[in-house]
Amino acid sequence: MKKEQQHKLEIHPWGLLEREFQADDYPLNATLFSLGNGFIGLRGTFEEGFDPEPFSDGCYLNGVYASEPIRYGEAAYGYARNNQRMLTVPDGKGIQIWVDGERFNLAEGEILEYERHLDMANATLARSLTWRSPLGKTLRLKTQRQICLTEKHLVLIHVEITPLDFGGEIRLLTGLDGNLDQAERSDDPRLASPIDQGDIQWLNNVADGDYLALALSVRSSGYEIRCAATHRLQASAGHTMTNLRHENRVATEYRCVAQRGKPIGLTKYLAYFAEQRAEPIEVGSLRQYLELSANKSFAEYAKAQRIEMDKFWQESDIQVLGNDSLQQGIRFNLFHLFQSLGRDGRTNIAAKGLSGDGYDGHYFWDTEIYVLPFFLYTQPNMARHLLEYRHSILDAARARARELAISKGALFPWRTIGGEECSAYYPAGTAQFHINADIAYAVRHYSRVTGDTEFLRAKGAELVIEGARLWMEIGHFNPRRNNQFCINEVTGPDEYTALVDNNFYTNLMARAHLEYAAEVYQWLQSFDPEACLALAQRIELGPQEPMLWAKAAKAMYLPYDQSQGIHPQDDGFLDKPVWDFEQTPANHYPLLLHYHPLVIYRHQVCKQADVVLGLLLESSEFSIEQKRRDFDFYEPLTTHDSTLSACIHSIIASEVGYHEKALDYFQQVARMDLDNHHNNTQHGIHTACMGGTWMCMVQGFAGMRLHGTELSFAPFVPEGMEGYRFRLQFRGRTLEVDINYSNASYTLITGEPISLHHIHEPVFLAVGETQTFEIAPPVEVTQ
Ligand code: BGC
Repeated sequence: MKKEQQHKLEIHPWGLLEREFQADDYPLNATLFSLGNGFIGLRGTFEEGFDPEPFSDGCYLNGVYASEPIRYGEAAYGYARNNQRMLTVPDGKGIQIWVDGERFNLAEGEILEYERHLDMANATLARSLTWRSPLGKTLRLKTQRQICLTEKHLVLIHVEITPLDFGGEIRLLTGLDGNLDQAERSDDPRLASPIDQGDIQWLNNVADGDYLALALSVRSSGYEIRCAATHRLQASAGHTMTNLRHENRVATEYRCVAQRGKPIGLTKYLAYFAEQRAEPIEVGSLRQYLELSANKSFAEYAKAQRIEMDKFWQESDIQVLGNDSLQQGIRFNLFHLFQSLGRDGRTNIAAKGLSGDGYDGHYFWDTEIYVLPFFLYTQPNMARHLLEYRHSILDAARARARELAISKGALFPWRTIGGEECSAYYPAGTAQFHINADIAYAVRHYSRVTGDTEFLRAKGAELVIEGARLWMEIGHFNPRRNNQFCINEVTGPDEYTALVDNNFYTNLMARAHLEYAAEVYQWLQSFDPEACLALAQRIELGPQEPMLWAKAAKAMYLPYDQSQGIHPQDDGFLDKPVWDFEQTPANHYPLLLHYHPLVIYRHQVCKQADVVLGLLLESSEFSIEQKRRDFDFYEPLTTHDSTLSACIHSIIASEVGYHEKALDYFQQVARMDLDNHHNNTQHGIHTACMGGTWMCMVQGFAGMRLHGTELSFAPFVPEGMEGYRFRLQFRGRTLEVDINYSNASYTLITGEPISLHHIHEPVFLAVGETQTFEIAPPVEVTQ
C-alpha cells in the first residue's frame, strides 16, 4: 500500500552517506541530515543554499512559537481559539561563496566528487566535494557542522575552500537571514501553516566586523529571540572585510586572495537564545558569549561532542547482528530522538522533532506512548523532563477543562506547544480525551521503572489526579447497561473513526487511570500526609472522590463481542460496513487525503492501532489467544496511514507468534524515514515511529513486559538478523540483554541484585553476574 522508495543513501551502521548529489532528493535529505540538540534544530540544507530551493531552510528552537487566531468559517462554543506554530527563526547557516565573481551553487557547474556524511557516532554533519564552475574553475569544498550537545545555545560551522586550478578572489558572504520562510496554505492537515509576518517585530541588528546579531520579538507569544554569530577566518594571503546590514538581514563579506592549492577556512560560531517575556538579552553579553566560545576550535568542540555521544550510545544503543540495513535504521531513529528531545522540563518533543515544521511543531500523545519508553529505560532523567513539561502546562489544561464544562480537574490539549489546545478539528483532536489517560500511564510507567517517589510526590500525583477527575464528568454509570461506567462521544487513537461511544482503548486506559489515581492518592496520604493535604486543599479534592474513581474503574464497561470473541473498537463499530479495500486504488492512500471524513467514518477501517494498542499497554489483562483474535480481526481493516501503527502491529505480531509479520512491519518502522515510506519525510521525521522502533526491538522481539515492578522477557530472533543486544536502566540498575538464535543472556552491569523472568523462569542476578538460557527456535503460528 505504501509507496516503496529506492533509497539512494548508502547502508552504513553508524551514519548516512550520500555519495552522489541528487537534486530531487534535496528536500528529503534536508530532513534526514538535520541536526539538533533538543533546543536548536537545523535542517540539513547547504550553507551556500541551493537554487531553486522549494523547501524551508528550517532553523527551529524547541518550544518557540508564534500564536495566531484560528479562523473558522463556522465557529462554535469552546472551539480551540489559537494555533501555536513553531517559528522558523533567522537562518544562521548561510555562507555563500563566489569564485572570481561566479557563485558556487550545486545547481550549476559540474560536480566532480561529492560526499555528505551524517556521523551518528559524533553528531556532526560533513560534506566534501569537488566542483567545476561554469567558467571552468575547480575548487574543493569541505564543510562541517555541529550543534553542541554540551552548550545548548551554540552551533559551529566550518567551511574550507581550496582553489585547485586557479588563483584569484574567493568571496564569502556569511550572514543571519531573518527573511522567515512562508509555508503555503495546503489541504494536507499534516503540513505547517503560514506565519503572519506582522507578528514579528525586529528589535535590533548589528553587523560589526566579524560579529553579527539580530533580535526579534514575536508579539503573539511574547518570545524574544536573539541570534548572533562571530567568525574566525583562516586565509594566508590577505583579505578585506565589509558588513551589510538590513532590518532583518546582516552579513559579513570576506574577499580573500585565493592561491592555487591553498585552503581558505572560515569557522562560524552561531548562537541562539530565546526567552518568553523576559528582559531583553543584552547584545553585549551575547558578543562576549561568542567571543569566549570562539576560543575553542571546531575540533575541540567535536571532542566534547564525541564524549556526549559515547555516553548516549553506551546507554541507549541497540546492536543488531547480521543486518546493517536495520542497524542503520535503528541507530538513525534513536539518534534523531536524542537530537529532538526538550531537556528542560518546559519543552517536549514534537511529532516531527526539530527537523521540519510539519504539524506546526506540535507535541502530541506521541510523547507519552511512543517516545517516552525509550528514554525511560535508557535515560530516565530525560523521561522525567517530558513529564515535568506536562506538569508545567497543567494550568492551561485546567482552563481547557472548564471550557468543556468539566468542573474539576484538567483536560490536556491534543496538540500544543505552550499548553493551549491547538486542534482546530475537534473530532480528531479535543475528542481524543484518552490523552489524559496516556499521560497518567506514562507517570505510572515512569514511577515503576525508576522508583522516583520524589517526582510522584511533587508533580506526578497532581498530574494523575487532576487528569482522572475528567472521567467522572465525561463518563457515567449507565443504568441501561447494568450501571457499568460508560464514556460517550470520544475519539480513540484510530482517527478514521470519530465521536463514538465506549471506545475500547479509551475505556481501558481510563480504567487503568482511575485505578492508579486512587492508588496514588492513598500512597501520598501515607507517604507524605502534609503534601497530600496541601494538594487536596489546592485542587479542592473531596474525600469521596478517590473512592468514586475506584468504583468507576471497577465498573468500567469494555465492549466485547461474544460471537467473534473480539473487542469491538466501540459500540457502533461492528454495525458498519467494511471499507471496500479491493476497489481502493493504491494512490488513494492515505485515505485522509482522498475522502471526506464522513465517508471514512461510516466504515470499518482503521488509520492506526487502537484496540491493538490497548492490548500492548494493558498487556497482562489479556490472554495470548485473545490478543491473536483481536489482531486477526483488526489487521485487515488497518491501513497504517499513520506512522504510529506499524510498530504496534509488529509488537503484537511478535507476541502472538506471527514472527514473519512482526519482521515485515519492523522493516518499515526501522527505515520509515530513511526510505521515506510515507512519502512525507521531506516535512520532517516521525518521532513516534522512531520511539516505536525501540519498542519493537525490546517489547516485540525481546518480549519485555513490566509486571508491577518486575521485568519479564520472552525473546526470539526474527529471520534476517543473527541477534541483538541492548542495555536497560531499571530502578537504579543497568541490565544488559543479549539474544542470539540459541541463547538469551542477562547481565547485571551495575546496581543492587535484581530478579526478573525469562519466559516463565525466575532469574536472580547479582552485580557482574550473567545468566544464560537456551531458547528454542521461534514457532511460527499461521494466521
Ligand atoms: C495520528 C495521531 C498522531 C499525529 C502526530 C496523526 O496522523 O493519527 O495519532 O498523534 O499524527 O504524530
